[in-house]
Amino acid sequence: MENRPSVWSSNRFWRRSATWVTGVASVLLVFLTFDSMGQMKMGTAADIKNKVDKRIPSPLVINYKIDYKLNKTRGHEIPIIGGMDANGYSKYEEKEKFFGKDNWSEKEAKALIHKGKLTIQAKNCMDCHTLLGNGAYYAPDLTKAWLDPTWETLASAYGGKEYAIAKFLENPPAMAMHERKMPNLGITKEEAKAVVAYLKFMSAIDTNGFPRNFGKIKGAVDARK
Ligand code: HEC
Repeated sequence: MENRPSVWSSNRFWRRSATWVTGVASVLLVFLTFDSMGQMKMGTAADIKNKVDKRIPSPLVINYKIDYKLNKTRGHEIPIIGGMDANGYSKYEEKEKFFGKDNWSEKEAKALIHKGKLTIQAKNCMDCHTLLGNGAYYAPDLTKAWLDPTWETLASAYGGKEYAIAKFLENPPAMAMHERKMPNLGITKEEAKAVVAYLKFMSAIDTNGFPRNFGKIKGAVDARK
């Protein structure tokens, strides 16, 4: 019998393998890029109307009540927009006034949220806070700050959760809630309103339960007591 060289030492085999692996990986990468782009695309008014859950919802969510509930199937909390249906997902029905009205148009809501984002960037909130995984941990994670139960307890005294947060942002030391205080960054009334819109919108983004254990941290020192 002829002594044939092993396939592992064949140049032709390795060249073909490399070509195939590169080809398949390229196709997969193109598919994954489009899939990610689809997941990151902001929802629209039509999605809300048709009750379609989008990972990043329409800016119109500022017109709705937002909750954060444990989803047993997924094993972590998910944002619930406008009330929860029987299956544990968003119903997009229960509205909630945001700075006096619950009929912000898509254009108005988008503009306000955008202004909030610009303010957050201009004031470098990430020097101390984390937003959607970016930033520092000197101060509380802001990704779900809108859902911090503290604001619920202050809502009635300020005429609504949004007014309480805006008031805090305009002069944080005056409303300090922890021993470690947030400095006054000279945020105007209009900027504060926009930042709160951004915080509300961000809390409605489905972040796969990040940050973990949100709202369950015990033992924080309440400086008002
Ligand atoms: C120098 C650090 C620092 C910077 C910069 C900073 N913060 Fe804070 N922030 C804090 C600290 C500390 C607290 C906790 C203070 C307290 O509870 O009294 C806080 C608390 C907050 C809270 C309440 C959080 C919650 O869970 O309820 C919000 C909202 C907030 N900051 C928003 C902002 C925004 C928006 C900016 C940028 C415009 C900003 N912060 C910039 C330090 C900072």
